Amino acid sequence: MIIGVINGSPRKNSNSEKISKYFESTIKAEKLANEVEMFSLKNNPLEFWHQGFWDPASEASKNWKPWATRIERCTSFVVISPEYGGMATACLKNFFTICGGSLLAHKPAMIVAVSSGEGGSYAQAELRMSSYKNNRICFIPDHMVIKRADDMLNGEQAAAGEDEHIRQRVFHSLKSLKRYDLALQTVRRNDDFDYKSFPFGM
Ligand SMILES: Cc1cc2nc3c(=O)[nH]c(=O)nc-3n(C[C@H](O)[C@H](O)[C@H](O)COP(=O)(O)O)c2cc1C
Repeated sequence: MIIGVINGSPRKNSNSEKISKYFESTIKAEKLANEVEMFSLKNNPLEFWHQGFWDPASEASKNWKPWATRIERCTSFVVISPEYGGMATACLKNFFTICGGSLLAHKPAMIVAVSSGEGGSYAQAELRMSSYKNNRICFIPDHMVIKRADDMLNGEQAAAGEDEHIRQRVFHSLKSLKRYDLALQTVRRNDDFDYKSFPFGM
């Protein structure tokens, strides 16, 4: 079991980056997976999708290859998205577009939406609505919306109240993700998916 943690913020020193690291350390400390793979969209490391991604000999495909190799190893994901302008971030939507139809297919993922204010719900809803059809990632029912993120998950010691509750929720949700990870491994091991005839969702 290998959990990929995706930081969907393009900003330096973002709350999403801080939260990614918190997830990483919790997974390791609680031994919730054999490995953790960290993916960061800080400073927009990926090109915006263009036709070249369909040409295996292109520069874009060559640059993407190391990402694809690491993504393929993962058996489940934590997807951390800030809410920008009431949306999931462009770099995260771009990431899902580049991933194509197989790297994420039938792997469970937990959405963690992040807001420094009272938002976050739109980013979470948008990912559920429009970021799974062709890549076939399976967003689990459990998600998190971390509001007032400047005050959450700072340092090792929990602050009493909401911060403590959020930390407990991270642990609980990761245990849920682990169960889906184990269960969906059997879904991926079969011959029923005919992607030649049905390459895209409807
Ligand atoms: C361009 C931009 C748009 C934003 N729009 C929203 C928004 O619509 N709703 C919201 O709750 N917070 C919004 N924020 C604030 C983020 O919630 C805040 O930056 C938070 O820390 C999550 O982003 P980060 O992980 O990049 O730090 C916005 C921030 C930026 C930079």
